[in-house]
Amino acid sequence: MTARFITFEGGEGVGKSTQIKRLMHSLSREGIEVVRTREPGGTPKAEAIRSFILQGKCEEWGAGAEAVLFAAARFDHVESLIAPNLDGGSWVLSDRFHDSTRAYQGLTDGVPDKLIDALEVLALNGRSPDLTVLLDMDPKIAFERVAMRAEEDGLMVPPDRFEKETLDWHRKLRDGFLSIAKNNPDRCIVLDANRDEDALEDAIWEVVVKRFPELQRAS
Ligand code: TYD
Repeated sequence: MTARFITFEGGEGVGKSTQIKRLMHSLSREGIEVVRTREPGGTPKAEAIRSFILQGKCEEWGAGAEAVLFAAARFDHVESLIAPNLDGGSWVLSDRFHDSTRAYQGLTDGVPDKLIDALEVLALNGRSPDLTVLLDMDPKIAFERVAMRAEEDGLMVPPDRFEKETLDWHRKLRDGFLSIAKNNPDRCIVLDANRDEDALEDAIWEVVVKRFPELQRAS
């Protein structure tokens, strides 16, 4: 069976990591080797770039520089983790990938398409996702969920570089993601993330099996 590369995208607090873990379990149950990863990060070099960016250390350099750094992290992530795993037969599930740079730095923070396009070519190096699941939710609801979870966990973590942006900024980000999905209908699927975790898990599994019918034949 061909190894597949699936990315999850969306704004803050839409539940990507929970759903990726659930999809990983479902795929493993089918006997498939699966690797779960995230962006920015996934490799030691990319994780170092992650902490630099999320601490806001390059915010003053502007969104263009941030986009270049995200792409540098992605280049290493693709070369050292994503490509070798796919080539070795493992499916790869990534919490965010190149659409995040286009949505955050491009469509929300105004980095020109020309730069985003060029960075994509360099960083992806010919590897693009077979499927992208966009978890869509009103950012106001997503923020309330994040706050509720933090209170339940007794965690008071200060907001990172992007979490601190305004609600209007996050609404623009949501529109950005939706426009990316609209422009890439063969790759992207948009799911309403404002429902309970089990229902969302079922909807994702349905999409994955429909997109990769070999899964049905394997079970
Ligand atoms: P993270 O804590 O992983 O957020 P989340 O759980 O929402 O994925 O932080 C990653 C942050 O970096 C998140 O705010 C999205 C942002 N980001 C970009 O701005 N551009 C990118 O290319 C990527 C991959 C992430």
